[in-house]
Amino acid sequence: MEPLRDEVHSVKGRRIVLGVTGSIAAYKSVELLRLLRSEGAEVQVFLTRTAQSFVGPATFEALSARPVVKDWSDQTEIAHVEAGHRTDLFLIAPASAHFLAQMAHGLAPDPLSAALLSFQGQVVVVPAMESRMWTHPATQANVERLRARGVQLLGPERGALASGRSGQGRFMEPEHIVAALRFDGGDLEGEHILITAGPTREPIDPVRVLSSRSTGTMGLAIAREALARGAEVRMVLGPIGRDPGTEPGLERLSIHHVESALDMQAAVHAHLEEASVFVAAAAVSDFRPAQARGQKLKKDAPGADRIELVLNPDILADVGRSPARPGLVIGFAAETVDVLAGARQKRTRKGADAIVANRVGLSQGFGEGQTEVHWVEAETEEPSGPVDKAEAARFVVDRISRSVRRAKNE
Ligand code: C5P
Repeated sequence: MEPLRDEVHSVKGRRIVLGVTGSIAAYKSVELLRLLRSEGAEVQVFLTRTAQSFVGPATFEALSARPVVKDWSDQTEIAHVEAGHRTDLFLIAPASAHFLAQMAHGLAPDPLSAALLSFQGQVVVVPAMESRMWTHPATQANVERLRARGVQLLGPERGALASGRSGQGRFMEPEHIVAALRFDGGDLEGEHILITAGPTREPIDPVRVLSSRSTGTMGLAIAREALARGAEVRMVLGPIGRDPGTEPGLERLSIHHVESALDMQAAVHAHLEEASVFVAAAAVSDFRPAQARGQKLKKDAPGADRIELVLNPDILADVGRSPARPGLVIGFAAETVDVLAGARQKRTRKGADAIVANRVGLSQGFGEGQTEVHWVEAETEEPSGPVDKAEAARFVVDRISRSVRRAKNE
């Protein structure tokens, strides 16, 4: 009996695209699909034309309980997959030498390659081919390219090959693939993520404060997604009127509650050294009253109609330039106009690796509801399309995971 999986590793409820390409091992993907389905995954199968000469779509359709994508005319399924945030993982199994070459060079002659090009999340390939094809410098160079891009490889293993010879190139056994996905499901294992979230509250007097409407929802959604993917997450949280630590999916979250920007800055610095990723999702008050009055301000007191303000420290910029800077620093930019231009500027000004930009209006940005975010890096800018906060968090965490993998492969 296999041990039960814990939630972090489970493929249960995960949405997987299984891409089957032209290798004799294609028949083994039928068993792979059966295992994934029995573990509770939703699977959309794509068959390349060559794969179809090894194995037909009927069995895949029956086991996945949905139409297989075989060519460009299977529009509905393609559209579904191309709404990239609906898919957790692309699993290319078996991956032929030809398909690896195609992926490495970004060619898209078939629906599977095209869907891969519009997908930014986790990609796993399971090569299967003759050992001479595998060891050929062309294949090895392609594999290196894919690895550098963050693509994960499983196998190939040594053993008997379809040709009757023996060597490296054998398709990993389906149950071992599923076992490895268990591990990959926690793609942020070993990462320590430090997140600021919520508003800050700057005292004017013992009763009144300067604050913002931030609810901490985005930071908490990122924490939930990162925890589910195996990360250790610590949050420095401004006042949101509740303790979210007992809410579903946040039980493992360590929360450091703070009030003001100065408190938040001190808490961030106290935890910075342990962090491999820093995410600044807090709506930090740019200013604070120069002096917090010791007594409630009376409206007829001299100078009561004026509050002198001083600038708060910029916590993100501080971290971005700190000698203890974590490998990955992510900021947010909520703007009402010129969202992308503002985000680009902020990225360089604050020393961040990436900025998540979103437009805020009266009904957008803060709290629940649909929004659209943009991931702004030095080289790439990607929109999420319309998403709710949980989907936006997954979009952001997918990119954090990709950056972490990329850094590890470098
Ligand atoms: O400059 P602006 O406030 O728009 O920048 C937003 C980004 O900077 C967010 O990631 C926010 O958490 C961070 N920030 C900060 N400390 C400040 C102001 C903003 O960490 N004082």
